[in-house]
Amino acid sequence: MNTASDRVFFFDTTLRDGEQSPGCTMHHDEKVRFAHQLALLGVDIIEAGFPIASDGDFTSVQTIAREVGSSATAPRIAALARCKAGDIEAAARAVAPAVKNRIHVFIASSDLHLEVKLRITRQQALDQAGEMVALAKSHAEDVEFSAEDATRSDIDFLTQLVTVAIQAGATTINLPDTVGYSTPSEYQRLFETIRARVPGSDKAIFSTHCHDDLGLAVINTVSGLLGGARQMEVSMHGIGERAGNAALEEVAAILQVRRDAYPFHSGLDLKQIGATSKALDQIISFAPSPNKAIVGKNAFAHASGIHQHGMLANPKTYEIMTPGHFGVIANTIVLGKHSGRRALEHRLKELGYNLNKEEIDETYTRFTALADRKKSIYDQDILGLLPQTTL
Ligand code: KIV
Ligand code: ZN
Repeated sequence: MNTASDRVFFFDTTLRDGEQSPGCTMHHDEKVRFAHQLALLGVDIIEAGFPIASDGDFTSVQTIAREVGSSATAPRIAALARCKAGDIEAAARAVAPAVKNRIHVFIASSDLHLEVKLRITRQQALDQAGEMVALAKSHAEDVEFSAEDATRSDIDFLTQLVTVAIQAGATTINLPDTVGYSTPSEYQRLFETIRARVPGSDKAIFSTHCHDDLGLAVINTVSGLLGGARQMEVSMHGIGERAGNAALEEVAAILQVRRDAYPFHSGLDLKQIGATSKALDQIISFAPSPNKAIVGKNAFAHASGIHQHGMLANPKTYEIMTPGHFGVIANTIVLGKHSGRRALEHRLKELGYNLNKEEIDETYTRFTALADRKKSIYDQDILGLLPQTTL
């Protein structure tokens, strides 16, 4: 069934970029539990942390590598490292217990970052990248190289940097939109240009990594696929630095619902999205906003009479996908002051009451009066509206 489409790889960074954001700090046990859930979801790579950052991060990555990465069918376990020998050695030790592991090495590529943050020249960045990717390669077969701030970098220099990384043994090349600045067409073109210019680029997998500062992280991610990327770095609920990363569940839904526009398939078990969202809810300090696509409380809720009528006649009238497909339990028909008679009748039937026309009319009149006064109508409220004859 999937033969006509290309396989793409989900790289989850909830435990690294996600955990770096305010309100998302996770304890050791929470990280390990969440990584087990990511394995059930079927992500290809779990970025488990940044081992040099703290002893706690090191231990969590190591435990995840040992417990979650314990078989050939488990996700690959990755750890982040700057272009520094100490970082790379710590990352290598932390991911070593996994059957499949990866060291993810990064250095900035924009002049702004090189001059102001790292205070090094372009030549020094090229030298460090070459040496440190080679060092990572001496510890792991699978090495990812990221050119931080790639989308604000000089294209000729970026071409040189990626060339050096591939020559030194990088097997995945990530071109992050670190500050969420790029547009979809620019991001697609970036992949096309770099892949066309860099010798040996056909041997590497290219990866997207998008931030949501302009609300473009998800569309930029799928645009990167159109430009030839085959790995996407995403996080559950889109948590991550500042406005966050591309939301895994939204990218997954686009690939499912709009296969015509984005002909790619992945190894995800979409039915696990609901459980993964719940697992994250229990760990971090905030839930996704109610109108958040796929996992928000209202993502599949219908409150207006016209929409409820359509939904009851045929869900396709107002839904392009079903919550069940994503393992999401949704209260699709929400009763309130915008609801119609049919929605009320439907709920009453679900509650076991088959009323005749007069009884429905009487209940509906009371219902609209109550809904004008009360924002949320619960099943108990509805039962309290039933005429005596029905009880
Ligand atoms: O946003 C970014 O550039 C990153 C890199 C470390 C991959 O998170
Ligand atoms: Zn990032």
